[in-house]
Amino acid sequence: MSTASVHVPGGSGAGTPGAGTPGAGTPGAGSSGVGDLEAPGAAISVRGLWKVFGPRADRIDPGLLASCSRAELKERTGCVAAVCDVSFEVAPGEVFVVMGLSGSGKSTLVRCLTRLIEPTSGEVFLDGEDIAALDEARLRELRRHKTAMVFQNFGLLAHRRVLDNVAFGLEVRGESKAVRYARARAMLSLVGLDGYEGAYPVQLSGGMAQRVGLARALAVDPEVLLFDEPFSALDPLIRRDMQDEVIRLHHEVGKTLVFITHDLDEALRLGDRIAIMRDGVLVQVGRPAEVVANPADEYVARFTRDVPRAQVLTARYAMRDAVSGDDLTGGSVAPDTVIADMIAQVAADDRPVRVVEDDRLLGVVDHRSVIRVVAGQGQAGLGQAGRPQS
Ligand SMILES: Nc1ncnc2c1ncn2[C@@H]1O[C@H](COP(=O)(O)OP(=O)(O)O)[C@@H](O)[C@H]1O
Ligand SMILES: [Mg+2]
Repeated sequence: MSTASVHVPGGSGAGTPGAGTPGAGTPGAGSSGVGDLEAPGAAISVRGLWKVFGPRADRIDPGLLASCSRAELKERTGCVAAVCDVSFEVAPGEVFVVMGLSGSGKSTLVRCLTRLIEPTSGEVFLDGEDIAALDEARLRELRRHKTAMVFQNFGLLAHRRVLDNVAFGLEVRGESKAVRYARARAMLSLVGLDGYEGAYPVQLSGGMAQRVGLARALAVDPEVLLFDEPFSALDPLIRRDMQDEVIRLHHEVGKTLVFITHDLDEALRLGDRIAIMRDGVLVQVGRPAEVVANPADEYVARFTRDVPRAQVLTARYAMRDAVSGDDLTGGSVAPDTVIADMIAQVAADDRPVRVVEDDRLLGVVDHRSVIRVVAGQGQAGLGQAGRPQS
């Protein structure tokens, strides 16, 4: 494990692809550079993606696009750059959250992934397949078989029963009635809606309707599920239930998820990694702890300011270098232990808690270093603490 990157975790500046392997355990894993873009086997790979809306948008000089701000571009050409030179990769089975304020380009980005919106330039690979190369028929195939979308407004068909709504994608695909109903029943059961097969959408609460939306998306057994702010209109408690539902379903079905939200709590709960967009630009990609501990800029810092740090940050971010005089006979934790889960252990012992990975001492956590990091005063001795101990 490279710990040299501890100083710049989340150092992914504008446009830097965060292409780390989720769960790699390195704070810098989300920002390891362009080289990772060539990594084989990515579920989704996006390179230099642009979407410009407006008159003759595809004829704008790329140099102009790259050099001027969104406002200048609008002024000079009348066009809106909704997605600006975005690059990232999503690993199979990863939950990749895209977060940003309204208007930051999230919906445009996710629609470009299946060419529901035609990108202006750049590349998108889904499961290794260059989507720009697909003709209409193969594109339809991709949308029907490999991907499914869940929207905020559910998109349920009002005149169809719940069962037929869930079976809809399979019907479009030409599956027999027996096959599609069996599958639709199983999916309704999976999302906890046994017994509602015959109901109509109007009879459902918002949370239930969204469960139907989930079941419908899962019914086609897609490789990638795309969620565009699906829970934003739900009441907070129901919203939490639905987030739990997504987490549970993800454990059960293990699909790759791209989840769009403007809500940081939701992003932190769901995301293996979080990509933060501002004005069409991807300003940071990283694991939740990385983004919270090392926001790339003031915009990200504003987003993350009120996060309960003890719930998100890990021992890796609270540790300092072991120094001579430290009593190293106390307990130990793994570097990815969430601070909230180790705080009692730290409090109960005057000896520092050792942070150990693969029998290697990465650093120690003591009372002071925990308090410092929870208080948001940076990382005690990080950088030195990250150095391998010989
Ligand atoms: N069809 C369109 N034509 C022109 N401008 C658009 C269109 N769709 C989106 N935009 C603009 O692109 C920007 C990004 O929009 P969007 O992707 O919907 O953001 P988000 O989903 O983050 O709220 C916004 O400024 C929006 O007004
Ligand atoms: Mg949107």
